[in-house]
Formats: sequence, structure tokens, C-alpha cells
Amino acid sequence: MKLIIINGPNLNLLGKREPEVYGKETFEDFFRKLQFKFQKVELEYFQSNIEGELIDKIQEVGFSYDGIILNAASYTHTSVGLGDAVKAVTTPVVEIHISNVAAREPFRHSSYISNGAKGVIFGFGLKGYELAIQSFFE
Ligand code: DQA
Repeated sequence: MKLIIINGPNLNLLGKREPEVYGKETFEDFFRKLQFKFQKVELEYFQSNIEGELIDKIQEVGFSYDGIILNAASYTHTSVGLGDAVKAVTTPVVEIHISNVAAREPFRHSSYISNGAKGVIFGFGLKGYELAIQSFFE
């Protein structure tokens, strides 16, 4: 099983970015733990602050990988292009957010990703990525 985690803007700052909202752990440390936990899964990680690079990556992997776990971060709420990319590919996409976006500012309540996604996970911190991986096991 080949899965990729794609993280959008500002998620490279996890660990030091608003730790009361996003936690104190860096994604690199967390990702090493994930790889250890899911040794049978070919797990990749990609992060970019640039909308077009995220779209390019979805297109690149979206016809061959078994799953995409996408935290589009702020682009979730703004990007028609990312939403279209999710719908264009055949690989199922699980949308994820670390924080409980439904309990935050109203502009975080809408998503251009959700209606093309297989499912959505939010509010469980970094554990949500683990739940997203598990969702690909039938
Ligand atoms: C986020 C929630 C978004 O609203 C925000 O812009 C982010 C992170 C989350 O993981 O909780 O950057 O996607």
C-alpha cells in the first residue's frame, strides 16, 4: 500500500506555530513515528507553501498511489484549483485538519476539498493522520 501525506502552507512550522492550537511536535518527528508504526505501508510526505506545487503533487501521484492524505491548511478554505485537482484524480483523498475547524472562525467552516474527498477527519490533533492511514485498511 502506497500512501502520501500532503501538507499545505505553514504546516512546515508545526511545533513552533501556535502550539496551543497545533501542538508542540514537529511534523518530521511525528512522521518518523508514523513510519515506524506503519512499517508495511509505503508512506511518503510532501509539504509546500505554494498552491501550484500542491496541485502538481496531487496530479503526479493521483493516478497510481493508493491514497492521499491531504491537509491543504488555509488553501482548504480558498482554493478552487486544489478542490478541482482532488476531483480530477482517481486516487482517493482523505481530507484532514489538526484542529477542530468547526469550532474555530467561520471562514474555516467551508472547504473546497470536502466534496471531492473520500472522508474528512478533524479535531484530533496529529493523531488524525494516523486515523487517516487506518481508514485505507478495509
Ligand atoms: C488546518 C486548519 C486551517 O484552517 C488552517 O488554515 C491551517 C491548519 C488544521 O490542520 O487544523 O493552516 O488545516
